[in-house]
Amino acid sequence: QQAEIGVTGLAVMGRNLARNFARHGHVVAIHNRTFAKTQALLDEAGDEGTFLASESLEDFVASLAKPRKVIIMVKAGPGTDAVIDELVPLLEEGDIVVDAGNAHFPDTIRRENALAEHGLHFVGSGVSGGEEGALNGPSIMPGGSRTSYESLGPLLEDISAKVDGVPCCTYIGPDGAGHFVKMVHNGIEYADMQLIAEAYDLIHRGTGKSPAEIAEIFTEWNKGELESFLIEITATVLAQTDATTGQALVDVVLDQAEQKGTGRWTVQNALDLGVPITGIAEATFARALSGSVPQREAARGVLPAGTVEWHRPTSADDADAFVEDVRRALYASKVVAYSQGFDQIAAASTEYGWDIDRGAMARIWRGGCIIRARFLNRITEAYERDQHLPLLIADDFFVGVIDECLEAWRRVVSGAALNGIPTPAFSSSLAYYDGVRADHLPAALIQGLRDFFGAHTYRRVDREGTFHVEWSGDRSETAVGGDFK
Ligand code: 6PG
Repeated sequence: QQAEIGVTGLAVMGRNLARNFARHGHVVAIHNRTFAKTQALLDEAGDEGTFLASESLEDFVASLAKPRKVIIMVKAGPGTDAVIDELVPLLEEGDIVVDAGNAHFPDTIRRENALAEHGLHFVGSGVSGGEEGALNGPSIMPGGSRTSYESLGPLLEDISAKVDGVPCCTYIGPDGAGHFVKMVHNGIEYADMQLIAEAYDLIHRGTGKSPAEIAEIFTEWNKGELESFLIEITATVLAQTDATTGQALVDVVLDQAEQKGTGRWTVQNALDLGVPITGIAEATFARALSGSVPQREAARGVLPAGTVEWHRPTSADDADAFVEDVRRALYASKVVAYSQGFDQIAAASTEYGWDIDRGAMARIWRGGCIIRARFLNRITEAYERDQHLPLLIADDFFVGVIDECLEAWRRVVSGAALNGIPTPAFSSSLAYYDGVRADHLPAALIQGLRDFFGAHTYRRVDREGTFHVEWSGDRSETAVGGDFK
């Protein structure tokens, strides 16, 4: 008997993916650098399906049916290259190597090129949903060659999450496209979590409600248009009591958010492409600020608050109205964060020649992944109405959503500023919204300044061409460039 698919790297994600294949009736080859983990899988879950366990990579490869399909699930970085280097000499033309870790997409492009020289297919695949998703149905974002998807795709679709019977897995595009999309997914995940954290902080400090009380608010929110995995688990985390102190867990966890790098990559790439993903960027910087220990110590108790008292909720009714305002601000800011993430995918798709279908992305993010949310259906519908939609928030449905939230959003952001409560993601999303909808931006003044000190020239609203003012001379305007027809 030969295996349909193999998994090497049996830490929790790899182990659960292997079990997921086995539970779906696929024969799975398993391998780990140290056999103890392989043995543990057999001991603890060996009865869930058919596993072909090997101690050596050679035996592992030999246990696979051709074309071989090997999933590498190791910590992203040099470890992935090390496994690939060992694997390649054992494989044959037409075999498929899948990297299911959180690799950086330029690495995926490099690896795809290198493996193509050996006649091998390299599939960089995003897998989202954490341990639980890997076992019970993740969202899967495979890139690479279309040919590889023909035989690999059905297997991946089989183990992926399903929403309304539709698999949360689709072919994304060539080389780095799959890992790119997963990277942006994580960027949106950062923004979503930061927005949730700001909403919690505002309600906590604005109304004095306890974490347990706020947990109930999130549970309520999860029954409406905000319904999503992250809102659901926020309620659970806020309701958690610390066993040793009896306090809310959130009050004893150190307030320094860590990161493994995908948010940072998303922002770096957005800078390269010139796409304003302000929500994701602020979320990433907010984590960095939280971890800026010497700076925070230098500022604490030294920098004045200078707050201006605004109408704080006093009665229960006021508090309810405030909570509803925060909910609306959260919804609007969240829509902006997704819109920006989809802009980045569109820009990358053009820049790197990937031809990514954004509606399909929203569809495979409806289930399995960390950012799964009810309103992703609405994003898919928006791209079905217009697959070249230039701006998600300008789609009729989202115009309506934001319109309903806008006043509340403005009250929340201004109130937070007056009261010295930091809301970088709420505020920057609103600033983006007002910027992108503006008739006229002060960028015109920036162009004037650039022309003044560097003769960088500017274009005019009323004529084609580029122009320059003789700032150090008679300040007359000259036409300098060719025209811009
Ligand atoms: C997922 C998650 C997963 C992981 C993040 C955590 O989609 O399942 O995004 O990939 O939990 O990489 O990222 P940070 O450690 O950077 O927060």
